[in-house]
Amino acid sequence: MMYAVLFVVILLSFLLLLENIKNQARYAQQYVEEEPYPLTAEQIKCIRNSWRRIMPIKEKFAELFYARLFELDPKIKRLFRGRLDFQGEKIMTTLNVVVNSIEDIKSVEAMLQAMGNRHIIYGVQAAHYETVGAALLFVLEQSLGDYFTDEVEDAWVTAYSLIASTMKETAYPISVPIERRST
Ligand code: HEM
Repeated sequence: MMYAVLFVVILLSFLLLLENIKNQARYAQQYVEEEPYPLTAEQIKCIRNSWRRIMPIKEKFAELFYARLFELDPKIKRLFRGRLDFQGEKIMTTLNVVVNSIEDIKSVEAMLQAMGNRHIIYGVQAAHYETVGAALLFVLEQSLGDYFTDEVEDAWVTAYSLIASTMKETAYPISVPIERRST
């Protein structure tokens, strides 16, 4: 009789343990599941293909970009103390590196965050990222012409938002979302 009770107790403990393990696995799965990457494979292709059309005209692109940026917010101009052509070269080189790693932003995360932190020293505020995003999209549209389809635009809006939010992550406590251009 005692053995039977002991057996039932052991059996029940075992079943409880099994249930517990199952629950823990369910709980872990719920929290380990990663959010989907913000860019689809198709959007990554759009960004790469469009950027390939920009790189051969990078000097002109940078020139147009700063012209549009200062048109959108003339007060931003005073933040740029060095030669704009040198600055243009730097931003295009950096964007090129980031575009080449756009399928895995984590691989350039530390570089982007350090750059975002340096931007505080240049006097850059979180809201400026929205203006820079608008200038970038405008110049992409101007430079790509018919190639700048809604699909390409959406891909760039998401990519820029990803780049800007990574740069702002450690630099500012609150992030500003990047809006789609109004048509
Ligand atoms: C995608 C976002 C951006 C990228 C890739 C980028 C890239 C760069 C790079 C590579 C530099 C060179 C110095 C360094 O590496 O620290 C730089 C400097 C600078 N950036 Fe940005 N930047 C971005 C956003 C912004 C925004 C939102 C502003 C705001 C207006 C801004 C304003 C400046 C200024 C004022 C400098 C210093 C220029 C000088 O010393 O003359 N950048 N940026």
